[in-house]
Amino acid sequence: MQIKFSDKINNIIKNLALEAERFGVKIYFVGGLIRDVLMGINPCDIDILVEGNAIEFVKSLNFAQIKSQHPDFGTIKAQIDDIDIDFASTRTEKYPHSGTLPVMVKLGCAIKDDLIRRDFTVNAVAARILPSLEYEIIDLFNGISDIGQGILKVLHKNSYIDDPTRILRGLDFKLRFNFNFSGQDEKLIEQYLKNPGREYLSTDRVILTLKKLFGSKENANRAFVEFIEKKYYRILFDDFYRNARDINEAIEIFKPQSIGETYVKYIFEQKKEPPALNSPLEIYKHFKNMPDVDICVYYALTHDKNALLYQNTLKNIKLEIKGCDLLNLGFCQGKLIGEILDKTLEAKLAQNSPITNFQDEINYVKKTFIP
Ligand code: CTP
Repeated sequence: MQIKFSDKINNIIKNLALEAERFGVKIYFVGGLIRDVLMGINPCDIDILVEGNAIEFVKSLNFAQIKSQHPDFGTIKAQIDDIDIDFASTRTEKYPHSGTLPVMVKLGCAIKDDLIRRDFTVNAVAARILPSLEYEIIDLFNGISDIGQGILKVLHKNSYIDDPTRILRGLDFKLRFNFNFSGQDEKLIEQYLKNPGREYLSTDRVILTLKKLFGSKENANRAFVEFIEKKYYRILFDDFYRNARDINEAIEIFKPQSIGETYVKYIFEQKKEPPALNSPLEIYKHFKNMPDVDICVYYALTHDKNALLYQNTLKNIKLEIKGCDLLNLGFCQGKLIGEILDKTLEAKLAQNSPITNFQDEINYVKKTFIP
């Protein structure tokens, strides 16, 4: 197998392979990198799996600058020739309960034991890195054939029970790569969703996975429709009363920066009654400091017209005069300055206000506040 890296990266990889031989460990590419290469996608991140202790291996290299390390997980990030590389140690894991974060059992295990803890066959192909820059494929679960056919299969029947976020990861791969769950996987997922174990569920992990799933603008809507139709929400809740139309409409209007965070907030946010806001100034002040994600989700949940008025009109109205302009007009420093600025803003926010520019504001102040 060939992997097309730049000459600079090839050089780093060759040196790492030579150092690995010297140190007495085998090093591999595994998971997403190999899956992507086999699908003709250029790898962007470089992750290396060390069959042994990655931290000890990286510390033995005199050309690697260590950036961070997590001894509990046996992972270490280093910079080599300005390139960031993540190194992980092979490990076995167990899930004490359904949905909890896994606990490491053995660090530095054999590669085959590391591969079997993974999510899908398509992510469990490894390629041993040799100094000749040839790659020796280890495909214990027919992952290459499944990549070719675009099939998502877990490696053992408890996989979705151990880690239900794999259902959401699978949906992500389905939408990104046009993959499909195998018939057997559809059944395993259906069984899990009938009786999901939520007692020990790591909600943080679910949230991270959801943010990634909904993070891509092109796929977010389809992902959300499937999340509802296939009842994947049952990983979290028995029932779910949100719908794709409301959040889509809100995203179109409010164009939040982070689509992933918007969907996640929409999933978890409680519905609230809109507050009574009695003037454009009150509406302006209420929404002014709300992050774009929050206002978008608020609108999706309430359809409050005040949020629309803010977004379409009030948000773009800004006072051009400042406190110093009022001092120049002869007002004294103090509370009054703030009050005059507020009143001027209120007049500018009013429907069909004649105040549109700096001079209009000055004239308004003179007319209203200077006897
Ligand atoms: N993995 C897993 N179960 C999870 C998360 C990750 O088994 N819940 C394993 C998979 O083997 C995966 C590897 O950890 O290939 C790395 O995970 P991640 O970086 O999240 O995903 P990639 O598969 O690399 O895919 P991509 O980054 O392209 O989404």
